[in-house]
Amino acid sequence: MNRVIWITGAGSGIGKALALKYNSKQNVIILSGRKEEQLNAVAKTLKNSYVLPLDVTNESAIIEAVKQVEAKFDKIDMLINNAGVSQRSKASEVSNDVGRKLMEVNFFGSVHLTKAALPLLLKSEKASIVAMSSAAGKFGFPLRSYYSASKHALHGFYEALSFELKDTNIHVLMVCPGRIKTEISFNALTASGEAHNKMDQGQLNGIPVEKCARQIVNAISKEKAEVYIGGKEVIMIYLKRYIPSLFRYIVKKVNPK
Ligand SMILES: NC(=O)c1ccc[n+]([C@@H]2O[C@H](COP(=O)([O-])OP(=O)(O)OC[C@H]3O[C@@H](n4cnc5c(N)ncnc54)[C@H](OP(=O)(O)O)[C@@H]3O)[C@@H](O)[C@H]2O)c1
Repeated sequence: MNRVIWITGAGSGIGKALALKYNSKQNVIILSGRKEEQLNAVAKTLKNSYVLPLDVTNESAIIEAVKQVEAKFDKIDMLINNAGVSQRSKASEVSNDVGRKLMEVNFFGSVHLTKAALPLLLKSEKASIVAMSSAAGKFGFPLRSYYSASKHALHGFYEALSFELKDTNIHVLMVCPGRIKTEISFNALTASGEAHNKMDQGQLNGIPVEKCARQIVNAISKEKAEVYIGGKEVIMIYLKRYIPSLFRYIVKKVNPK
């Protein structure tokens, strides 16, 4: 029987790289995101896929999408909640609406889809839920106030969920990438909600997206609870935990773009 792997944000970046990593006849890959054309382009490169356009901020669309998956495949073996939007704006300048939007996509989008998909994940012999957090889900970073808050919130929700699922077939993984070379900074929201539309230097220096996808696949297969992926910026997660004063000293000196 095919493994059913559902990836959100599958039309670009890390989601697309994960779809390519799982590309095989035995895996049917459900590709979700808002831009259907991008999803179709990814589908063309895959052996076995199903394009399911979805805006994760639309709760009724989530319910309908899960119904479609149930009718077509009857179960889900892996749900990769990868859809996300970053931020490039000061907390003092960003509008409340933009802040709420960041929470809606990054936190509620992931959580609502996971909750709706749970009955189908429980039908799998061995299932994984992946929540795409960030290094910014482990510490606050300038110009990322809501983004960082939304990713921190994922940790609380999914840790609680993982304990609630301890006697089931479902494994939960938190992924915390540092800087990965994708278009995330292009799509990041400014204070007024426009796209930032720039490749930031930090992003440009990020590790290749294929390397990131490889490490995520490895963490899923080893049923890890949490994985940190990136270059030297990942050290900041440990500094924040063990030497917080040094962590604060360094972040004050870093260019946040
Ligand atoms: N790149 C990094 O350095 C980095 C670091 C830490 C964490 N991450 C996380 O990794 C994930 C993927 O980001 P990326 O780097 O691959 O950037 P990306 O290429 O911009 O990918 C983001 C994806 O999310 C989808 N998306 C955005 N809003 C959506 C919505 N409302 N409903 C459904 N899909 C939506 C986008 O597709 P549509 O526009 O078609 O909807 C897009 O495919 C994000 O959660 C991000 O926070 C990335």
